[in-house]
Amino acid sequence: MTEHKTEDLASQNSPRPLVDVRDLKVEFTLRKGLLSRVPLRAVDGISFQIGDGETVGLVGESGSGKSTTGRAILRLIEPTSGSVSLDGHSVTDMSRSELRKARRQMQMVFQDPYSSLDPSMTVGDTLAEPLKIHDGISRRAAQGRVIELLEQVGLARHHVDRYPYEFSGGQRQRIAIARAIAVNPKLIICDEAVSALDVSTQNQVITLLERLREEYKLSYLFISHDLGVVRHISHRVVVLYLGRIVEEGPVERVYSQAAHPYTEALLSAVPIPDPELQRSRSRILLHGDMPDPSSPPPGCVFHTRCPYAMEICRQVVPESTPVDGGGSVACHLQSSGTQPLQGASLAHLTATL
Ligand SMILES: Nc1ncnc2c1ncn2[C@@H]1O[C@H](COP(=O)(O)OP(=O)(O)OP(=O)(O)O)[C@@H](O)[C@H]1O
Ligand SMILES: [Mg+2]
Repeated sequence: MTEHKTEDLASQNSPRPLVDVRDLKVEFTLRKGLLSRVPLRAVDGISFQIGDGETVGLVGESGSGKSTTGRAILRLIEPTSGSVSLDGHSVTDMSRSELRKARRQMQMVFQDPYSSLDPSMTVGDTLAEPLKIHDGISRRAAQGRVIELLEQVGLARHHVDRYPYEFSGGQRQRIAIARAIAVNPKLIICDEAVSALDVSTQNQVITLLERLREEYKLSYLFISHDLGVVRHISHRVVVLYLGRIVEEGPVERVYSQAAHPYTEALLSAVPIPDPELQRSRSRILLHGDMPDPSSPPPGCVFHTRCPYAMEICRQVVPESTPVDGGGSVACHLQSSGTQPLQGASLAHLTATL
């Protein structure tokens, strides 16, 4: 996979990030039995930024709150509290009609384009639809732009009259991407956008996303449970566990010197292509399931599965502290100055990822 990441991003010097998420919380209400209802905090006070032209990877196990975060940023789910701003405008304070207009700036690409594309619409109509909604352009007038979009995502102009079922999974994802870029958004949230594709198609779609990022000056929130894919596409990575950010930082630092035991465990589960190294490395296995998010453990939410848990971890929520090499971590091992975690196993792993 080719790397197209540019190091001197505008975001690093920019006084204002494109996306600014502050203390975002999303609570659902679960029915338990006939009468009782319990709150489930799927996202529990997270803050992070995405710079102009930056790709931020959002990782974590199933149920950690990745999709809820993505949807709450776009207000497809209403946040319970906290704020989200896009280019300095508060998305969380927008009225419904302001939000409708702002939606052109922020688009989403989902895992399964088959369910997100209307099977009864041709590709041409699918791509013309956002142009009609946002710019009032008729189907006929949009034809030129539709062909241009198709070509930009590597499809041919004769595909314009075909239906979703006539395409492969990778091609359908290209159509979904074309629909997302049609209205020149600033942010695209990709929720497991390549997860259903085989490895070589994944690589092609990632190369396409990289190219479009540069051409359209896009920023991505790239949600994925696949840390190998996230490493290739992201500049920075945010690690979620039970709705909280346990670690974030530049990809190079996080993958070579994970500061949180959870990140270390996630990384050690990524297979190494070299069988010799795969056999020799020590792995940090996560025991048990993630706790029930409707009754999270006290203290550090990870302590029930952490191989390094100390007494303080069972009682006190760890503060986020800066990490050498960039980013931050919320872990008592780090804030108490106890033994850093990165070991030879991780060095092996990251050398080959
Ligand atoms: N509409 C909903 N109503 C109630 N609970 C929900 C709802 N949507 C998500 N949840 C719960 O919120 C938590 C976070 O879910 P979310 O889908 O954001 O996780 P995820 O990290 O995207 O997982 P996955 O990798 O499986 O996609 C889970 O416990 C989930 O069961
Ligand atoms: Mg999800």
